[in-house]
Amino acid sequence: MAEIDGARLLQRLQTLRSFGATGSGVVRPTYSDTDMAARAWLVEQMEAAGLDAMIDGVGNVFGRSKNPGPALVLGSHSDTQPTGGWLDGAMGVMYGIEVAHALRDDPTTAHLAVDVAAWADEEGTYNSCLGSRSFVGEFGEADLAATNVHGESVAEALERVGVADRPTARFEPGRHVGYVEAHIEQGPHLEDTAMRIGVVTSIVGISAMEIEFAGEQNHAGSTPMPRRRDAGVALFEFGVRLRERFESLAGPTSVWTIGNVRLEPGAESIIPGRAWCVLQFRDPDPEVLRAFEAAAMELAAELTAAGPVDVTAGLARASMAPVAMDEELRRNLRDAAADRAAGAWVEMPSAAIHDGTVLAPHLPCAMLFIPSINGVSHDFSEDSHHEDIVLGCQVLADGVVRTLTQS
Ligand code: GLV
Ligand code: MN
Ligand code: MN
Repeated sequence: MAEIDGARLLQRLQTLRSFGATGSGVVRPTYSDTDMAARAWLVEQMEAAGLDAMIDGVGNVFGRSKNPGPALVLGSHSDTQPTGGWLDGAMGVMYGIEVAHALRDDPTTAHLAVDVAAWADEEGTYNSCLGSRSFVGEFGEADLAATNVHGESVAEALERVGVADRPTARFEPGRHVGYVEAHIEQGPHLEDTAMRIGVVTSIVGISAMEIEFAGEQNHAGSTPMPRRRDAGVALFEFGVRLRERFESLAGPTSVWTIGNVRLEPGAESIIPGRAWCVLQFRDPDPEVLRAFEAAAMELAAELTAAGPVDVTAGLARASMAPVAMDEELRRNLRDAAADRAAGAWVEMPSAAIHDGTVLAPHLPCAMLFIPSINGVSHDFSEDSHHEDIVLGCQVLADGVVRTLTQS
């Protein structure tokens, strides 16, 4: 089996971290200057690993092996949340480059083909999983029109960063036999159970709804309480009552979050005339997602009927269905984990969304997790032990060799 170079992997990860480094975290939203500088650097690293690399027409960095297929695609995303950690996405990209590099340098594996992707906008600065959707031909007008918080559309951003006229990397059914992504767990399960490797069984489904509250703007001092139509109060009431309803419908691993709210005009001495929030929920069972959606709509209608604020709820974007990981790829990762981390690996679902959600309906997909310290992610304090980072990459490399020497 090819041995990965742990020091080289960690060094590259630290360099990628430096693009957008902010304290211990990273601010590198898709199509920002730092994101594009990181992507240019990723092209160099992929070339150094022996791949033919380019930034494509939606900002994906794609490194193609010079070897003929069958090829596995490895990778993850190199963009971050508005305030993100240094490993979310970055680790899977650097694993892909390290595995390609290590396989190329070992005469027993130099003939194997590994293509590596750093997908654009997995985190949804404009629209979640833009890059992987382009790869499988699901990128359309709605994606080009999607905007970031500053109102810039994807079409405008692609022009600005100078890639709009480039070709896009595409899934090649005759070549690509699967996609394998390694990632930090982002939750506490592995650490709590003293496990070092997670082999993912499935990825949960996700839905998001926008809730709008229409009241009446007025003076916060001179408007008596009974005469108020306070959109902010309605928003808070919605959040509290929603919790009761969702708890009665929830499965064992359901989660929901109101992570973005706006009160308008947002001034201390003005009763908010309008309010807005995004409600997101996730579950492995699509029936639970549908029940949550219906419950949120019903609550909005009830609050409107009771007054004094009109509440409307609608889907914020297309839901993403839960997806199963491929059995054969999983078996090869399990066997690799059993070799390198005997007694310290486990099978588990992914509670976070990944590009595999988009890719799995098109090609076999699998994922490998390593532990997150304190189960923290989407935060500057996100971290993992270096020994786990190195171990995970070796398990991935072994799983890749097992797969490609069988196919
Ligand atoms: C991906 O970052 C997610 O929010 O699950
Ligand atoms: Mn993320
Ligand atoms: Mn991620």
